[in-house]
Amino acid sequence: MTIKYIRDEEPNLTPWESRDDEPINATDDRAGLDWDQLAFGYIKTDFNIRYTWRDGAWDGGVLTADETIPIHMAATCLHYGQQCFEGLKAFETANGDVTVFRVEENAKRMVRSCKKVLMEPPPEDMFIEAVYRVINANRRFVPPYGSGASLYIRPLMLGVGPQVGVKPSTEYLFTIFVLPVGPYFKEGFKPVDLVVEELIDRAAPLGVGDAKVGGNYAAGMRASLSAKQRGYTEVLYLDAKHKRFIDESGPANFFAITREGRYVTPKSTSILASITNDSLCILADEMGLRPERRPVAIEEIFSFQEAGCCGTAAVITPVGTITYRDREINYCPDGEPGPHCTALYRKLQAIQVGDAPDPHGWISKVPPA
Ligand code: PLP
Ligand code: COI
Repeated sequence: MTIKYIRDEEPNLTPWESRDDEPINATDDRAGLDWDQLAFGYIKTDFNIRYTWRDGAWDGGVLTADETIPIHMAATCLHYGQQCFEGLKAFETANGDVTVFRVEENAKRMVRSCKKVLMEPPPEDMFIEAVYRVINANRRFVPPYGSGASLYIRPLMLGVGPQVGVKPSTEYLFTIFVLPVGPYFKEGFKPVDLVVEELIDRAAPLGVGDAKVGGNYAAGMRASLSAKQRGYTEVLYLDAKHKRFIDESGPANFFAITREGRYVTPKSTSILASITNDSLCILADEMGLRPERRPVAIEEIFSFQEAGCCGTAAVITPVGTITYRDREINYCPDGEPGPHCTALYRKLQAIQVGDAPDPHGWISKVPPA
């Protein structure tokens, strides 16, 4: 590994200035991991990147090997949940390039999440630049082309200024760490079992369910744990107001293929606008599975042909069964994913790793440091 050196904090350097002194982490000494055995779990990599917003301006950001964040005990993120995060992936292509999938969309969504909880949003170009810098500094952790694994990128925004009254912080930390990952559900591209949750709500219709804030995930942990204890993989949430329409799963959006061959996915104010789902709607349309984004009544599950969960971590995870009250529907009686989920999965993955053309401009090549 060739590491030049870590920059000391340089508060006067703007994010757009040249960075000849960034750590370069070359591929010729790739981290010796079992790439095709990776789970979705924390692995220490070489660097994370941190930017601070203070006195009305962002600093130039710094790469550090420190895995801990010193934080004021009265920071708003700790008490009042003033934080949000993102998730996206980088891939190695057959010719050795490293690419990221729809990074601009994650940058925009982080701005929306920040605005929802009154945080100072990181400028989109700073977000993208930070993604490139942290990937370049951890290049040896990008899983090799063909391994099926990817580099997961986790941007995080924290209100770090001290407040005891409930009001926004005056100081923010924007940080990104990366880690090589395998599939979110240990099954990989195999059918999972969902159970419809009726006793716990993940998010309120006019709340923050459409923002990627940590509180939504904490709110769902009881439901998810209980589902797992009962032998299910995850829960499927209903809309909190009527308990009639499908919202989403804990870590991913939900979609289904109707008997008429349409791609249907819930429209709801309390779900995260999934970038994967948006991409699948476009791919489905191209495959003749006319997409429909509309309220999806829970009873409809009994007439679907196929169903799936989708998201950055989940990619496409085919749904085998859904249990609703005392009824179960099984979409994969032979234990194998259905043909439409499989076709969508293959197409999405091929675009992500550069094996298929990218007509929509979803892939950006990470510029070398
Ligand atoms: N829904 C929730 C609650 C999520 O956490 C995620 C993951 O980011 C998604 C949906 C999928 O969104 P995306 O495809 O943008 O990763
Ligand atoms: C992602 O898919 O990027 C997410 O953030 C989901 C999370 C539960 C792992």
